[in-house]
Amino acid sequence: MPVITIDGPTASGKGTIAHRVAKTLGFAVLDSGALYRLTALAALRADVAPQDESAVADVAKALDVRFDGPHVCLEGADVGHEIRQESVGNYASRVAAYPAVRQALLERQRAFRRLPGLVADGRDMGTIVFPDASLKIFLIADVEARAQRRYKQLIDKGISANLVDLLRDMRERDLRDTQRTVAPLAPADDARVLDSSALTIEQTVQAVLEYWRGSQ
Ligand code: C5P
Repeated sequence: MPVITIDGPTASGKGTIAHRVAKTLGFAVLDSGALYRLTALAALRADVAPQDESAVADVAKALDVRFDGPHVCLEGADVGHEIRQESVGNYASRVAAYPAVRQALLERQRAFRRLPGLVADGRDMGTIVFPDASLKIFLIADVEARAQRRYKQLIDKGISANLVDLLRDMRERDLRDTQRTVAPLAPADDARVLDSSALTIEQTVQAVLEYWRGSQ
């Protein structure tokens, strides 16, 4: 069962690119970041302290989640908006550093594999979760370009934002994701590094599809 992995730093556009590529090829999608965010939301709701690795891992193991098209459900209720909150993202980024939490989510992620194929986006899709993927993309963009994109997204949604703060938060999260000892953000040896700083979404999608056709 073919898998295309798209890994990369925060706000590199992985999610958007993964969905467009999957739609073109008729493949399923795994947004692995959503699983970490759902774990965070469930743990926050249960008042679990982020320092308590085994309690957070228990929450991850017991997660009752469902992905239904654009809907992300926790215990039957759509929490698509809630998991995008900054507080949930920060908790997720902290507890994603725990081996027990990563282990608890591993098989759940692998279970998304299906015919005719899967596009999986995250940080360690090509290195840990699907090391045998048919195509591995490591999507990067300058931190300034990523902060600009996030800023525009927020403003377009009518949410106030500060570019300097966004840039600082993004640098902090990059550092946390790349320097953690377990599954740090890094390209797999056989990944193709794609820099989207100067590309539109459509150009980036086309570049991935070209790699895919070339790999067939
Ligand atoms: O991609 P997204 O921002 O939704 O992911 C939320 C957090 O989950 C990230 O900050 C990252 O630390 C973590 N994550 C991870 N491994 C993945 C996907 C996300 O550690 N495969």
